Amino acid sequence: MKHTDIKEIIEKSDYLGKTVTVCGWVRTARDSKNVAFLELNDGSCLNHLQIVIDKARLTDVDVEATKLGASLKVSGKVVHNDRNDTNEIDAEEITVLGICPGDYPLQKKFQKLETLREMPHIRVRTNTFNAVFRVRSVMAAAIHRFFQERGYVYINTPLITGSDCEGAGEMFQVTTIGYSKDYDSEEEYYANDFFGQKTGLSVSGQLEGEIAAMGLGKIYTFGPSFRAENSNTQRHVAEFWHVEPEIAFCELPDLIEIAEDMIKYIVRDYMEKCPEELKFFEQRFEKGLTEKLLSVVNNDFAVVDYTDAIEELKKADVKFEFPVEWGCDLQSEHERYITEQVYKKPVFLINYPKGIKSFYMKQNDDGKTVAATDLLVPGVGEIIGGSEREADYDKLVGAMKDRGMKLDDYSAYLDLRKYGSVPHAGFGLGFERIIMYCTGMANIRDVILYPRTVGSIR
Ligand code: 4AD
Repeated sequence: MKHTDIKEIIEKSDYLGKTVTVCGWVRTARDSKNVAFLELNDGSCLNHLQIVIDKARLTDVDVEATKLGASLKVSGKVVHNDRNDTNEIDAEEITVLGICPGDYPLQKKFQKLETLREMPHIRVRTNTFNAVFRVRSVMAAAIHRFFQERGYVYINTPLITGSDCEGAGEMFQVTTIGYSKDYDSEEEYYANDFFGQKTGLSVSGQLEGEIAAMGLGKIYTFGPSFRAENSNTQRHVAEFWHVEPEIAFCELPDLIEIAEDMIKYIVRDYMEKCPEELKFFEQRFEKGLTEKLLSVVNNDFAVVDYTDAIEELKKADVKFEFPVEWGCDLQSEHERYITEQVYKKPVFLINYPKGIKSFYMKQNDDGKTVAATDLLVPGVGEIIGGSEREADYDKLVGAMKDRGMKLDDYSAYLDLRKYGSVPHAGFGLGFERIIMYCTGMANIRDVILYPRTVGSIR
């Protein structure tokens, strides 16, 4: 169907005086004695295009064309509306492509996000989700560009895996047979399953990413990861999109530099490419959003030792729900205090106690901590988790044995430390989390098309 994007008509003066055809859905309709006004949106931009119907000239307009949600094809001349300083269309022909009956759920101008979550197939037609998903697309492109411009190789790691990267049973199982009493043991059951062993959906592409980086130098993945954790929070989904660079010949300070550059690149690109959306989010969801993002691109992030953060938390004049002691895993309330109250900017927390982090992290010389880092940001908390990797075979084996891991399951991973091991590091960025940070959307369910959460699937 030949037609022009509404974005083009609104933003470019080339179309003035020309006859064009546009398609879209009716967002608002106003009628008066001599003229009717429709606002049309086709998803190409946040703004709507006004269609002016001169009733004396266009006498046979289908009444269905003026119903909210109806889809139309409109031809007419592009004229400039001086009062609103925007282009609009003086309609010459209107075709109804799809009627929209009165039970269309988006009759009210503003609907609660919770209500919209009940209809993910319809909410994309609202301004909010129009903006969210365009920003998501722009940010995905920025991520690829950032890594491609710097010579990283884009790798696709398997989603079905036999090894758990992060540890501690948060994997979804992949199976073609249900468990039954016919099997004498778990081993016998799994042996009969599709892969002949227990398998699950990957929580992270890191282990395979490390394997790729040991030949290709610098790689990144960008795909879904799955977590079966029972975390019904505003920041967790069971299926999220994960950006995981892995870099050979890289130590923790280098990794922090790369992560900071990447975040600044994404934010700068978003601010440049999506000014309308940013203005919308500022007005509707987070006052001060633009200023916050400007400060992100213009200032250095803080780098803070875990041990110092614990001291800050201990002397804080705040009653935390979870007590703070050296060695504890930081809860969201602690992370947010550090980044929102103490430093008031993004903070790389580094050198965590080894007991609360994964087996693969490089063990520091103090024998107590690992060269890990989480990036915490105001409003959201952790958006990045990463580390330098343990490159020493014996130390890695020691960490795995301490955790009771089966070395045989990780023989390929251990080989990397046997054959030409090098210092290397990587991190994982939660794609939805950075979208939340950049849009001010407070709930992760509102930045992904179909959120998968505990007890909910559509
Ligand atoms: O800190 P995580 O668990 O780290 C890893 O998976 C490492 N293997 C990454 C690496 O070093 N290559 O997860 C990394 C990030 C988190 O900081 C968070 O932003 C996001 O992934 N994330 C989630 N996002 C949404 N819902 C969940 N359930 C998430 N779990 C982690």
